[in-house]
Amino acid sequence: MRTTLLCFLSMCLVASTVTLGMENDQRTSLPPAELKGELSVEEAIQLRRSVREFGRDHLDLADVSQLLWSAQGITDRGGFRAAPSAGALYPLELYLVAGNIEGLSAGVYWYRPKTHELIHLASGDFRKRLASAALGQSCVRRAPMVLVIASVYKRSAGKYGKRGRRYAHMEIGHAAQNVYLQATTRGLGTVFVGA
Ligand SMILES: Cc1cc2nc3c(=O)[nH]c(=O)nc-3n(C[C@H](O)[C@H](O)[C@H](O)COP(=O)(O)O)c2cc1C
Repeated sequence: MRTTLLCFLSMCLVASTVTLGMENDQRTSLPPAELKGELSVEEAIQLRRSVREFGRDHLDLADVSQLLWSAQGITDRGGFRAAPSAGALYPLELYLVAGNIEGLSAGVYWYRPKTHELIHLASGDFRKRLASAALGQSCVRRAPMVLVIASVYKRSAGKYGKRGRRYAHMEIGHAAQNVYLQATTRGLGTVFVGA
């Protein structure tokens, strides 16, 4: 196992992120996702486990690119994404809390699927505070990277009413499983944290 990253779940409204003014120096282009891997899907399913122990290695931008792409990357000219979405309404928003990533300073970033890039939102190491919000789980503090999956409920609720909220929760599961499997194929450990 090379190192460990961590998947963390949070539900909140994040509509404001899409209207942020973005300077060029706030953007980090990610390398294109690789479409061939070392392991088959069957092997990744067989090997997948939740991992909470951490190596000291850093992640790199290729890892970040692949993991974000697997969760919400655009995989079709029509704008369809890696994980299924009820009505293709895509309520999920991904945030990256970076701690130890080569080529990316510690901070909080928003993933923009359309351009496969990161938008810098805040500087500093937020992992300790995030761990505290996750009932003090130390894996959150120690992971080189924490992926926060949030949802804008109203995107789904506009069409599906109350069911839309449930659909958003289901979609988080789809995206998270993709991240689990993608991490496994790269020799990375991950755990989904619901707390
Ligand atoms: C919705 C959900 C919430 C979870 N929350 C946590 C958590 O807060 N902390 C943690 O260490 N693991 C958490 N897990 C991981 C489970 O503990 C883990 O999947 C389970 O022990 C089975 O092990 P496996 O994933 O290796 O098959 C969560 C898993 C799911 C699906």
